[in-house]
Amino acid sequence: MTEIEGARREGAEAPYGILLVDDEEAILESLELTLGSEYRVFTAGSGAEGLEIFEREDIALVIADQVMPGMTGVEFLEEVIERNPRPIRMMLTGYADISSLMRAINSGRIYRYVTKPWEPDELRVDVKRALDAYALSSENVQLAGALAEANERLRAENLYLRREVERRYSFDELIGDSPAMQRVFDVTEKVAETDATVLISGETGTGKELVARAIHYSGPRRERRFVTQNCGALPDTLLESELFGHKRGAFTGAHADKKGLFEAADRGTIFLDEIGETEPGMQVRLLRVLQDGEIRPIGSSETRKVDVRVVTATNRDLRKEVEEGRFREDLFYRLRVVEIVLPPLRERRGDIPALAHHFLDRSNTRMKRALQGFTNAAMDRLYAYAWKGNVRELENEIERTVALAGGEERVGVEMLSEEVRGSSEYSVPLQGERGEITDWDLNRSVDALKRGMIVAALREAGSKTRAAERLGIPRQSLQKMMKRLKLTDADVAAEG
Ligand SMILES: Nc1ncnc2c1ncn2[C@@H]1O[C@H](COP(=O)(O)OP(=O)(O)OP(=O)(O)O)[C@@H](O)[C@H]1O
Ligand SMILES: [Mg+2]
Repeated sequence: MTEIEGARREGAEAPYGILLVDDEEAILESLELTLGSEYRVFTAGSGAEGLEIFEREDIALVIADQVMPGMTGVEFLEEVIERNPRPIRMMLTGYADISSLMRAINSGRIYRYVTKPWEPDELRVDVKRALDAYALSSENVQLAGALAEANERLRAENLYLRREVERRYSFDELIGDSPAMQRVFDVTEKVAETDATVLISGETGTGKELVARAIHYSGPRRERRFVTQNCGALPDTLLESELFGHKRGAFTGAHADKKGLFEAADRGTIFLDEIGETEPGMQVRLLRVLQDGEIRPIGSSETRKVDVRVVTATNRDLRKEVEEGRFREDLFYRLRVVEIVLPPLRERRGDIPALAHHFLDRSNTRMKRALQGFTNAAMDRLYAYAWKGNVRELENEIERTVALAGGEERVGVEMLSEEVRGSSEYSVPLQGERGEITDWDLNRSVDALKRGMIVAALREAGSKTRAAERLGIPRQSLQKMMKRLKLTDADVAAEG
């Protein structure tokens, strides 16, 4: 900062520009004589001429005579303020006019006035002081701008770091013992080591983003940034500017150059969520990045090389989108060099108990609760429910339950939400919607079915003897079975 000030005052850089406006030639001449050796002086014989110069030149100080034909000095200075309020304004005036200038002076329109005739040395001091004030104010503007920018950057960076820390931990907690998920983890691990473009597909809440993070954070790019963009959230042009950046002035509102996410993710990974939502124009541009590894900011004529790994996700059936002409086929093949399909939770019910306990532990910690687990009946309902919102819905269900818990020891059926509670125990579907087996753990599935049928039979029949009859087994077997399944009379009565 002292650099600017010092250099300017020492005249090492171009000296300040001063604009003098007076209708009297003689006054202009003598002012120029006083100031011309130190500054770049421009003279004008009228307000109109003065404004022309003001617009063309870099002016730091304006000195205008008050009494001029046409525009008065005050009027002229008002015009100057309109065009740029930063230069310092001084008024030249005879003693007689001072009272009429007071208002302009008091309202801050004028820095000070100079009375005619002036003392050259005094005027030089006044001018120098005025220009010091100008230097300070320019510096302030610059500093304030730089500060705001730095703050903004810092804030964004902080937010980014905090989120990343949280999310790195959440990756370590990826749960799934089912064969389907074990296969997903295998592929994830292998592909993480490479730079291959990965398409992750699956219904909402199946863990697509979690897998994308796992790919980044277990691969060689882990020290670099992982940036995400939801492609369904923005209109095409805004999305383009987010991803590729823009030059200042490229469109209304583009006040400064802006870097795009592809540059921010250089040597890292970019995760494009909801890729199926992109419009045709965007699809073409993405194809170009994938083919050439180059981006071009909006409004720029230059392209830039970027080294970014691309991972995308969709909950649409992208192949169908291609068939129906909504998604470019060439882009589709570029994106799914490797495809990871996350099965819906109802097709891997075997993961439900582990996931439920995982979310219970986490909620206990977060909410300072100490629930020990689930009653058999509650777990049965969790097991049987359809989970259209997949893991996210299960996560929310458990969090809600823990939040609303009183002093219970375990999560019971009555604590579950009405929807989940309503999933009947004896409708545990061993098959998915398309008739395929959904849980390969035979014992667990059979137990769930047994538990459901026994409870239903007991409720309908009203006694163990008649329930056993209805189930076609001896009463003693029923009792043994109930003991093994930890079904108590209370379970049967309590849970309607
Ligand atoms: N296998 C898993 N183990 C632990 N938590 C999981 C697992 N899968 C998903 N989750 C959790 O479920 C929630 C939803 O996951 P995520 O955001 O990755 O889903 P998504 O497929 O991206 O969903 P959407 O399509 O709605 O964006 C997250 O809170 C995530 O932590
Ligand atoms: Mg997601």
